[in-house]
Amino acid sequence: MNDNTATLDTPATSATRSVITPTSELVVNVQGLNHYFGEGENRKQVLFNNNLQVGPGELVIMTGPSGSGKTTLLTLIGALRSTQEGSNQVLGSELRDLSAKGLNEVRRRIGFIFQMHNLFDSLTAFENVKMSMELHGAKPRDMRREIIKILSRLGLGERIYYKPRQLSGGQRQRVAVARALVNRPKLILADEPTAALDKKSSRDVVDMLKHLTREEHATILMVTHDSRILDVADRIVNMVDGHIESDVSVNESLRLCEFLKKSSVFANLSPNELMHIAEKMKRETHPAGTRVIRQGDQGDKFYVIATGKVDVHINLDPEGRQTKWVDDMSDGQFFGEKALLTGDPRNASIITAEDSVLYSLGKDDFHAALSASDSFQDQLRKVAMVR
Ligand SMILES: Nc1ncnc2c1ncn2[C@@H]1O[C@H](COP(=O)(O)OP(=O)(O)OP(=O)(O)O)[C@@H](O)[C@H]1O
Ligand SMILES: [Mg+2]
Repeated sequence: MNDNTATLDTPATSATRSVITPTSELVVNVQGLNHYFGEGENRKQVLFNNNLQVGPGELVIMTGPSGSGKTTLLTLIGALRSTQEGSNQVLGSELRDLSAKGLNEVRRRIGFIFQMHNLFDSLTAFENVKMSMELHGAKPRDMRREIIKILSRLGLGERIYYKPRQLSGGQRQRVAVARALVNRPKLILADEPTAALDKKSSRDVVDMLKHLTREEHATILMVTHDSRILDVADRIVNMVDGHIESDVSVNESLRLCEFLKKSSVFANLSPNELMHIAEKMKRETHPAGTRVIRQGDQGDKFYVIATGKVDVHINLDPEGRQTKWVDDMSDGQFFGEKALLTGDPRNASIITAEDSVLYSLGKDDFHAALSASDSFQDQLRKVAMVR
């Protein structure tokens, strides 16, 4: 123990996940977006205050229950319906302010892969893809080679000159994918692009999409319920009742899982349980000297230290003007569990000793994680007994 004293007057600050892409470079920047269907008494709001920012080269997967508004949001971003309320900036244009002609120009720069694929029945697979290239002013010389290449890559090498009615649902879907990708759009909007495909074909399609993000820096926003393809996502956005409920960076969650595994309380959790907890945690950056927890307050969060160091102080007088240093903690250690487990007020103050990155889990999510995981509960109770 150490006899340092400190005056605790720095307010706690927190910052959520940093935005890496400057706003001016965002491919999609939706702010406060609402949407209504119907008129008069039948007017019904289906989108509520949505915010979504997607940068170049990102592959974002959107999930959520049926009727939650995924397709509506995607069609608004794709300039397929008019923006009514809020800001909807796509490929550098504010869609709310554009004329029909302007919207059409934005649409032409987007690759759409939608459930109703709208192929031309009288045209072959080759001609359907060719038409899309002609609309984009491709040189006739390059077209044939490109079309054959992309259709073959999607497993349609033997079906190039078939018409849609001679193709299965999955094959038609792949023609639609070829048509959307052949012009190498900078933004691709896909609504259940693998719904009609078998395992191998859906893997081919998503691998191709992922390739486009890597090689051409294309941005992809894809609605899917297909859990087999979640691994390609950079981010997963979850929509519930017309609102984006969570927006999780997959890499960050994976990194956090790796890190949590090293911490004693999480060591016995299954990868699934860990991922579940990681997705609920928020990253907070705190400069040195920030009071993260104040003794006597009600507990609202549990914390894990990702990088940095914190000091533990206890009050020497009831107001906490004089405090005493009792311990310090660093990377991989955690704090704040006791007040959540017992319901008692915080029994010490926590102040960052250096610039620190903490991950916090809110009280409700903490209790949900506890009840879902016997091993988490077990580990925490052991620790709480000792502390
Ligand atoms: N053209 C429309 N007119 C009136 N209501 C509509 C229209 N299109 C969608 N809705 C309603 O808006 C809500 C959101 O629909 P949306 O199609 O966006 O959901 P979704 O999340 O894509 O669902 P799913 O997973 O079933 O495709 C639903 O309640 C739906 O009934
Ligand atoms: Mg839909």
